[in-house]
Amino acid sequence: MRFVLLTGGAGYIGSHTYLALHAAGLTPVILDDFSNSSPVVLERLQRLTGQPVLCERGSVADKARVQALIERYKMTAVIHFAGFKAVGESVAQPLKYFANNLGGMVSLLQAMDATDCRTLLFSSSATVYGDPATVPITEQFPRSYTNPYGHTKLVCEDMLSALCASNPAWRVGVLRYFNPVGAHPSGLIGEDPSGLPNNLMPYVAQVAVGKRPFLNVYGRDYATPDGTGVRDYIHVEDLAAGHVAALQKLLSASENFTVNLGTGQGYSVLEVVRAFEQASGQLVPCQFAPRRSGDVAQCYADASLAHSLLNWRATRTLADMCADAWHWQSCNPDGYR
Ligand code: WQD
Repeated sequence: MRFVLLTGGAGYIGSHTYLALHAAGLTPVILDDFSNSSPVVLERLQRLTGQPVLCERGSVADKARVQALIERYKMTAVIHFAGFKAVGESVAQPLKYFANNLGGMVSLLQAMDATDCRTLLFSSSATVYGDPATVPITEQFPRSYTNPYGHTKLVCEDMLSALCASNPAWRVGVLRYFNPVGAHPSGLIGEDPSGLPNNLMPYVAQVAVGKRPFLNVYGRDYATPDGTGVRDYIHVEDLAAGHVAALQKLLSASENFTVNLGTGQGYSVLEVVRAFEQASGQLVPCQFAPRRSGDVAQCYADASLAHSLLNWRATRTLADMCADAWHWQSCNPDGYR
């Protein structure tokens, strides 16, 4: 059996990747402190796989525990999802983000090094591109940050570069997610933000299901076709498949890589709202509001490198993303609570 450690594996991306790894014949092991996820996910994953879920409740910062876990299962690789990811919160509480996202990465890498487990996929983000001069964005674009959350992703990438330069035994894949949305078609797992959703799709879904009265559209004076922000929304099932392809590449080749995981197609806020209304049959009332600080006008990927290097590309449409997000939301109006 080939065991793969998923730090933060009970989270939104982690739980969908769990299923994709299981389907690919690998055995995922979750490490999660449930600070931003729910143990209910474990029951859902067991229902979907028909197998008991291997999960340890704990923090990636607990080096001794991580080391023991890696040794117990002789992990083939680690996928590092665990981290805080709310842009606004990172501005208000930068130390919380530096301690958790940077401290957790250092601790994990030390535990991996100490147990000779040096194959890692890192969950990075398109936020490292800051405000791109042009679109679509390739992996060669300059990096920058506009908030402490994005800063931690950029620094984590730099840590990994330095580590690989110091020891060629490391096999590292950096995956820069664009905007993950949607849910597993079963409706049993999905995105479950705590409190007021920061991100567009879960907020739209909550308006459609009647939990919120309307959507605030942050800015309609951007240099985009309809004036609202344009992003590269990628179905979380495509993202999960991208992780399996990236892991298989790491295990079969001797090169490290950094790839965009996006569709290469940008959609505006209003296009997403319209697609969601069509998919759900529900109205999504909108109110135009001032721009949100830190937002950029356009951000979408040139996804060609992931295709050429990993033989992977996103296949699901915006309609699929909205239909699956709606199915999850309508089956679980209060998420996992
Ligand atoms: C998308 C568009 C908003 C909410 C962030 C992080 C990124 C990743 C994904 C973690 C923008 C508009 C949004 C709302 C709106 N997070 N919007 N009303 O900002 O592109 O990316 O989340 O990995 O790292 O930076 O995603 O979904 O917040 O916003 O009008 O209530 O929707 O202005 O144009 P974003 P988002």
